[in-house]
Amino acid sequence: MNAPNVSLRGLDLAAEIDRLRRERNAVILAHYYQDPRIQDLADFVGDSLDLSRKAASTDADVIAFCGVRFMAETAKILSPDKIVVLPDMAAGCSLEDSCPPDRFKAFREAHPDHIALTYINCSAAVKALSDIIVTSSSAETILAQLPRDQKIIFGPDKNLGGYLARKTGRDMLLWPGVCIVHEAFSETELLKLKAQHPGAPVLAHPECPGHILDHADLVGSTRAILDYALSSPSDVMIVATEPHIIHQMEKAAPHKIFIGAPGADGNCNCNMCPYMALNTMEKLYVALRDLEPRIELPEDLRLAAKTSLDRMLEMAGRTVGQGDVGRPVFSGD
Ligand code: 13P
Ligand code: SF4
Repeated sequence: MNAPNVSLRGLDLAAEIDRLRRERNAVILAHYYQDPRIQDLADFVGDSLDLSRKAASTDADVIAFCGVRFMAETAKILSPDKIVVLPDMAAGCSLEDSCPPDRFKAFREAHPDHIALTYINCSAAVKALSDIIVTSSSAETILAQLPRDQKIIFGPDKNLGGYLARKTGRDMLLWPGVCIVHEAFSETELLKLKAQHPGAPVLAHPECPGHILDHADLVGSTRAILDYALSSPSDVMIVATEPHIIHQMEKAAPHKIFIGAPGADGNCNCNMCPYMALNTMEKLYVALRDLEPRIELPEDLRLAAKTSLDRMLEMAGRTVGQGDVGRPVFSGD
């Protein structure tokens, strides 16, 4: 069901998607790493936390989720009565892949006095085995609410976990997963770029390894990076996250220059998320037309995963709405 089964040649896809969205009473939610054409027609573009909240609060009948599978699954967990479609069901995530539920369960069982604080980039089954879910924008706020002596295991992203441990002084046991996209930034190439643009701030996602974060002026979620880029007085900035976010920056601040941080050979596409790239305009059109492929979850798994997600939403303490297309927010978190 992932590939269009009729020729779509000649169709005005943007107009057809818009027609189907109205006919289906659908909302199109998109992550900042999506193809710019998808970002431009989405009802809402946001980071993982804002997208979760939007999914939980929408009154649409259908959520067309343009992001990766764990994000669409989160939408279904929070909005079980909605039809949730993901344009390409193969849109996974290397962090999710690094953390099979059976191994995570064994890890938890080996540390019974620890709670599991888990990054949202994981399967529903791992969410069900976790105590509290966090996103990159909510992790510090949530961590601050846990007693200092609380023992914590953090998975699956060892870079985000390591960053949080260094910043807060908390001792956390880290699951050894990484994001293949953020791992690919090269410190050598970044230093060359900084030398070419003295004074240009470096904005980095906490999924980057420590040797990249050490050079960052801002470490934050995709939305925090976007907010900083737009509110900073600097005219040139270096962006160390998936480069499709630069689309929103250039739209909102066309007079500024945003340079994507380089990968190992200084000129590769290795910082493009291959999973996010699976969603295309054609597949979004087909998903809205056929209401397939759909996210479906067994009810017991959904309820078990919802507990840890609900804790995140309670503890994160931020209202949705910021990040609506056309209404960029200029303050940090
Ligand atoms: P954000 O929550 O910052 O949007 O991150 C999601 C993600 O997958 C980054 O790689
Ligand atoms: Fe997963 Fe990395 Fe892609 Fe984000 S950028 S969805 S963490 S593989």
